[in-house]
Amino acid sequence: MSGRAEKPLTRHDPASAHSLAGSVAGLAAIVLTVVLLVSVAWQYARQRITANETGRTLAEISTVLPASLYDNQPHLDSVLLDTGGGRLLPVYRARWNGAPVGAALTIIAPGGFVGPIRLLVGIGADGRVLGVRVAAHNETPGIGDAIEPGKSAWLHTFYGRSLGDPPALLWNVREDSGEFDAIAGATVSSRAVVGGVRRAVQYFATHHDEIFAPLGDEARNGMDSPP
Ligand SMILES: Cc1cc2nc3c(=O)[nH]c(=O)nc-3n(C[C@H](O)[C@H](O)[C@H](O)COP(=O)(O)O)c2cc1C
Repeated sequence: MSGRAEKPLTRHDPASAHSLAGSVAGLAAIVLTVVLLVSVAWQYARQRITANETGRTLAEISTVLPASLYDNQPHLDSVLLDTGGGRLLPVYRARWNGAPVGAALTIIAPGGFVGPIRLLVGIGADGRVLGVRVAAHNETPGIGDAIEPGKSAWLHTFYGRSLGDPPALLWNVREDSGEFDAIAGATVSSRAVVGGVRRAVQYFATHHDEIFAPLGDEARNGMDSPP
């Protein structure tokens, strides 16, 4: 047996304990800074996304409801309604001095060639169509996508039309004994859009009270500042 004392496995070293504490504090500061930076970047991105979405909604509404018609902000004066597709969808209300002057209805038109077609249909207080926008679709490029406003003037065919003009039975494409020309080679897409616009004018005519229900707080905000 050796007479030398065993070296302790651990021993308290104030200098190294201090340096370890310093490293931990430094690491924590780095982690905190990274978390803070990510959080700020995330907030900024969210604001940008919201601003972009608001801008897109505003742009879409203004293409179907002339801005000279109203003094509120329809994108802030909206209500969620089932306009016929079994889903709650936004309806944007346009008012002048608080009085209803029209609305932009979101419609999901079933029966497109590839799938449903999302429409925004602007309708004036007299029930006449002020504008139609195809907001989203999956129709075939070069065929059914001619329903897009930028690709043809076909959507103009609905302007000024209402529930009685043409009569309900004629609110179809000519191929179905209706009054509306279909886009050549894209009868299926055209039929879906005609059906969607017909649904919008019918809904507007029969659900006026729901559409223009008394203003909630959110809707009142839409009247606080100019459009
Ligand atoms: C590959 C392919 C894609 C098509 N895409 C569409 C479409 O997006 N929308 C549409 O209405 N018809 C589309 N069609 C045409 C339809 O099959 C159908 O022929 C047409 O809607 C009928 O219109 P027409 O009577 O004017 O020819 C497509 C056909 C093919 C072969």
